[in-house]
Amino acid sequence: MATQLRFLGISGSLRKQSLNTALLRNAQDLLPGGVTLEMADLSVIPLYNGDVEATGIPESVLQLRRQVEQADAVVLATPEYNYSIPAVMKNAIDWLTRSGNPTILSGKPVAVMGAGGGMGTSRAQYHLRQVLVYTNALVINKPEVFVTQAAGKFDAEGRLHDEPTRAVLAEMLASLADWSVRLKK
Ligand code: FNR
Repeated sequence: MATQLRFLGISGSLRKQSLNTALLRNAQDLLPGGVTLEMADLSVIPLYNGDVEATGIPESVLQLRRQVEQADAVVLATPEYNYSIPAVMKNAIDWLTRSGNPTILSGKPVAVMGAGGGMGTSRAQYHLRQVLVYTNALVINKPEVFVTQAAGKFDAEGRLHDEPTRAVLAEMLASLADWSVRLKK
């Protein structure tokens, strides 16, 4: 692909050994040519508080906003917590829609994926898709990436060694790149 594209990866887990963060790091090796993926860091984002917003958007939130604005597309990797998305993921989206540019995600190509247990975060992903409706992000439908029994699919260094999962992840990234190019025109 001749066009240069920038993806932003956002993990909904703050754990150093997070499988969802590892999934994004593996995605960095599976990108189509001409595409880069940088990672956001949600560990520095405070809990949304309207009083804090009223006195000034925190620098960490502004940095996340800049990363989203500069990205051609966003890849969200979400764990499933109690059948839904973790608070840190929802909190980041809440701040993004309140950080001076409420339409920041509008028209932005977004892919959703997740690494979890027996259901592969499918319930969380569908909740995340519902939240993203409000933002008017353009969430690609397929392929869906549900990494089931994820703990057995990564090695101790966080490398994803399950070939079918690597293949569907690469396919999803290629689709996101394709849509990003189409939407740039
Ligand atoms: C979980 N986990 C979990 N798993 C699942 O399949 N369905 C669920 O509803 C939940 N609920 C849940 C709640 C809470 C509070 C925690 C901490 C965990 C397990 C979770 O998905 C698993 O630990 C993942 O590995 C977490 O993702 P990271 O941190 O590895 O990216």
